[in-house]
Amino acid sequence: MADRAKIAVFISGGGTNMAAILYASRLPDSPFEIVLVASNTPDAAGLALAQLEGIPTYAHSHKGHSREVQDAAMEAAALDAGAQFIVLAGYMRILSEGFVKRWDKRILNIHPSLLPKYKGLDTFARAIEAGDSHAGASVHVVTAELDAGDVLAQAKVAIAPGDTPESLGGRVKLAEHQLYPRAIADYVSRGSDPGFLLAKVKGIALALPETHERESHGSLGFRVGTEKTGKYFAYFSDRHHGSEHISLLVKTSGMDELMNLVEGQPDVYYKPAFYGASGWVGLILNRPDFDWDHAAEWLERSWRAVAPKRLTKLTDAADMF
Ligand code: GRF
Repeated sequence: MADRAKIAVFISGGGTNMAAILYASRLPDSPFEIVLVASNTPDAAGLALAQLEGIPTYAHSHKGHSREVQDAAMEAAALDAGAQFIVLAGYMRILSEGFVKRWDKRILNIHPSLLPKYKGLDTFARAIEAGDSHAGASVHVVTAELDAGDVLAQAKVAIAPGDTPESLGGRVKLAEHQLYPRAIADYVSRGSDPGFLLAKVKGIALALPETHERESHGSLGFRVGTEKTGKYFAYFSDRHHGSEHISLLVKTSGMDELMNLVEGQPDVYYKPAFYGASGWVGLILNRPDFDWDHAAEWLERSWRAVAPKRLTKLTDAADMF
């Protein structure tokens, strides 16, 4: 398959999640591939398994130097391997803030609890102790705060009477092995998932004052003003009229600007069928590293171009403070 997302998996121990991810990556439709397995423990069992399967590995012991030095070595290895995402699978080191920032929204982790419950260690003992009916695992985006980033997916595992942390942990592992590859696949694919892209567009467009959505010729449009007299300021277009793009149509000042954008940045903009003729430009959403701030700027500008004066006056006033 073309253009599979490249991931580096960081491990410290057995690496059973890494193995589950690796074998999932070899199924016919996997949207990701592992380009590196790296560890802070040179004798981690998972490294041997990765080698056996022909995956490049890297080891750099964390002993005797700072977190920053360790992270820089791991990061360099991931970059050399061409990784676009880092997947933590039992990597027992806390990452430095700089590293997490540089890989913002591109590091995932799996944690053996139903977050936000039981961050940190001894999660099974704590769930049993609390008398919970279920334990489980969560896949989340890594942020500077431990086990606190957005939760992407969870698997629930029933706690049996008489469960020990070990017996419960064994079953949670089985659930993790199902959950993690699926969550990674969804995450790396969402930039080309119309449902995800539309939800993002809606979130931004409908947060602007006095807006609502309305279907128009098979596309979803966004309008400002009343239901009766409102005007369109944007459209969401999912590969319409033979285009390969999932895009956001916004209003330029006219044909000169439109053609400048399309000719100057053809990987960012295109001239949509029909709408292009009246100055709407297509902002291509399904491309890597799409910048949502850029979409928000265009939406606001487009909103401003057609919004009634009484509304633009209000936001002008608000901008002054
Ligand atoms: C898993 O339980 C995971 O939830 C936690 O570390 C463990 C890694 O296990 N973050 P393995 O090395 O994948 O077997």
